[in-house]
Amino acid sequence: MLPEIARIAEIAAGAKPLPFRVGFPQGRNRELTFYQYHGPISGAIFRSWGEHMPEYVAQSQWSSRFAFLMAAIGSAVGLGNIWRFPYLAGENGGSAFLLIYVAATLAMAMPVLIAELALGRMGGGSPIGSLRHIVRENCSSRFWELIGILATICAFLVLSYYCVIGGWTLRYVYLAIGGSFAQIGNAGSYAMFTDFMADPMAMISWHLGYMLLNVVIALGGLRKGIEKTVVVLMPLLFVLLFAMVIYGATMPGFATAVDFLFTPDFSKLTPFAVLSAIGQSFFALSVGLGSMIIYGAYLDKGANIPGCAVIITGADVLVALLSGLAIFPLVFSFALEPSSGPGLLFITLPIAFGQMSGGALTGAGFFLLVSVAALTSSISLLEVVVTRLEERFGMTRSVAAWLVGGVAWALGLVSLLSFNVWSGVYPLAWLGMMKTSSIFAVLDFFCLNLLIPVTALLICLYMGWVLAKGTIRDALGFGGEASFRSWRFCLRFVAPLGIISILAVALLS
Ligand code: ALA
Repeated sequence: MLPEIARIAEIAAGAKPLPFRVGFPQGRNRELTFYQYHGPISGAIFRSWGEHMPEYVAQSQWSSRFAFLMAAIGSAVGLGNIWRFPYLAGENGGSAFLLIYVAATLAMAMPVLIAELALGRMGGGSPIGSLRHIVRENCSSRFWELIGILATICAFLVLSYYCVIGGWTLRYVYLAIGGSFAQIGNAGSYAMFTDFMADPMAMISWHLGYMLLNVVIALGGLRKGIEKTVVVLMPLLFVLLFAMVIYGATMPGFATAVDFLFTPDFSKLTPFAVLSAIGQSFFALSVGLGSMIIYGAYLDKGANIPGCAVIITGADVLVALLSGLAIFPLVFSFALEPSSGPGLLFITLPIAFGQMSGGALTGAGFFLLVSVAALTSSISLLEVVVTRLEERFGMTRSVAAWLVGGVAWALGLVSLLSFNVWSGVYPLAWLGMMKTSSIFAVLDFFCLNLLIPVTALLICLYMGWVLAKGTIRDALGFGGEASFRSWRFCLRFVAPLGIISILAVALLS
């Protein structure tokens, strides 16, 4: 107890801890760290020993800035950009929605992204380990450890159902290559999708295949798994996306698509659309899911976090825009419905691919692009939980990866079956708004509209209001005072305002 009190007094007096670590043998990830604090109190020199057991200290680091950026952009760019953004834009008036989405990304989601990367680098572990470490180091209330816990729960839950959709994308690559889109009409495409949804065994097989891909990548660890995957797949994703946009530009519906995406029509902008745009900005940037905390933990101390965050955000928004420019020309050229909701990708687009020459190849390329985007996101979600098991229980990576992958797959079955066998099960039927929401829909709503916003809000409060300004400034390395102040203002006021609005609507409705 005495050393603890002395340590707190020393920290209050401005003493800096001088850590040195004693690792456990046999390569276990646990380390015992002794902190020796030197500091003057009332003229005397105090020396005290604080004892920490940081449960995990990230021992790996990105091999290059490029590898980190590819991984972080890969985590951000996913189904959120290519599947969710186009259909939300389609349903909510296109360009006006886009404007709000971009503004929310810059003023709300990006500041939280910077905070998450910084938390990771400061804590050096999984989201739970990092927060525990930072909270102890800064003598904050243990309440803030909740950030790491919520982020990890959210990553796990999203992983479980994200991989179900990941399985659909693989199946659609297969269908496209096999020529199943040829001359398919509205009814045919609808039947192709609903037949697949009605076949649990087929869905389970694709879901399993997709999860296995994730586990195999996780087995390789940071450098041999995640890095090797993203440095190949992310450039491929951009090549495919640009090819799709160039193709779209040759279609007769391109001008209409540009008009739809870039000429604002505020009459279509409802308050609900504004909140959807804000929620979308957080999900699309992988904020509140812990992925950016663990990716930040692998960053070296010299990395410029704000600079990296600008690149990640820019790429994320660019992909959303390019996806719009790839998808809507097809939709308008074949007189299809832009506001067809979640079915836009899996029902509407195959009709367009089926009518165009070379549609099998274009369709396969497009769904491969979607699979790649999904995979580079889901591996970051898996990493959040795998690193936690490694640091907490000293598990080897392979045990942790198989365990998390297996349990997430099993949990995913619940979402998967809610499209067929349990399609009539409405777990929250007693809640008016969720009267007819399936298990999948409830889980998605719970994560996107409650868990992610709450986690992001806690991050804003902790980094913006609780941690000392100096600590944060040191951790971030902003180039100038003005940019630091703008970031802090957004984190303290703008982002919480947006998040509280989403939460209020989610809870009140
Ligand atoms: N950010 C990821 C996505 O957009 C989770 O899908």
